[in-house]
Amino acid sequence: MSNMPFSRRLFLKKGAVTFTGLALLKQGIASPFFTVKGSASGPVVLSTWNHGLPANEVAWAILKSGGHSLDAVEAGVRIPEGDPNIITVGYGGIPDASGKVTLDACIMDEKGRAGSVTYLQHIKHPISVARLVMEKTPHVMLSGKGALKFALQNGFKKEKLLTQERKAAWKKWKKEQKEFSPIINIENHDTIGMIALDAERRLSGACTTSGMGYKLHGRVGDSPVIGAGLFVDGEIGAATATGSGELVMKTLGSFLVVELMRNGMAPDEACKTAVMRIAKKIPDFEQHQIGYIALNKNGEYGGFCIQPGFDYAVKSEEFTGMVEAEAYLKRL
Ligand code: GLY
Repeated sequence: MSNMPFSRRLFLKKGAVTFTGLALLKQGIASPFFTVKGSASGPVVLSTWNHGLPANEVAWAILKSGGHSLDAVEAGVRIPEGDPNIITVGYGGIPDASGKVTLDACIMDEKGRAGSVTYLQHIKHPISVARLVMEKTPHVMLSGKGALKFALQNGFKKEKLLTQERKAAWKKWKKEQKEFSPIINIENHDTIGMIALDAERRLSGACTTSGMGYKLHGRVGDSPVIGAGLFVDGEIGAATATGSGELVMKTLGSFLVVELMRNGMAPDEACKTAVMRIAKKIPDFEQHQIGYIALNKNGEYGGFCIQPGFDYAVKSEEFTGMVEAEAYLKRL
């Protein structure tokens, strides 16, 4: 842990905003002092939300045996991708407004290599297709039918991703909804972003999602966009995002977090500064959730979010469990 002094002054605004039944107050100006939220002496893996716990276990087995962080993050995020009970990632994900499950994913390693797929249908593990885009093509991103064709040519199976449960919920939603509302329910966009450092200090990251529930057909979020949903610089650190992708894209959030670490900020400080950029630039940010997590090359890590309630899973020799990220908006 850092020995920096911790002093957080709160400048509370008069009045409160109401958000999904919670009374929240805005936290004011950033404190000049921050602490690193955690640090690991050896390998470490972080991932967003509590579906990160089983994903981290799989990643950890690879890290622990001296494997590459790239293999660890790919194997890790395949767990929620394949789990029909995780309704925000891969198989069993919430469909778009037209009832189609469309997936976005990207992956990046310590050498700056990157691969991504967007608007991919019928493939259970988009992260593995993204990795093949990175390793087998001169491109970074494949989309839609082209991405599907590439996946099928490379041995992936076409599968039905819409489960009976999600189909029934979509039908109910369709009946009740008069028009598409872009205001996200904070429960329904729990992307998994995973970042890891291996025993040889190689950083990698992966990010995969079925995107905003009942999004407009054709919508692509931040998760497959290198620099938005994920960014890795092998000399500095890695960051990933979850939440309303549009806000992350408009501020190129994960790239920003890594750049802030490059300029000397601790991971939690960098995440907080990137959230504050959103708060400054995007007028309706209080209607959204964004969570960032970051990890630097020294094994220090942290996170920050807009709304209370975002947590992330950590696995290292020193710590296994969930960490609740500090939020810009505070519960009263
Ligand atoms: N962050 C996931 C999405 O907005 O699609």
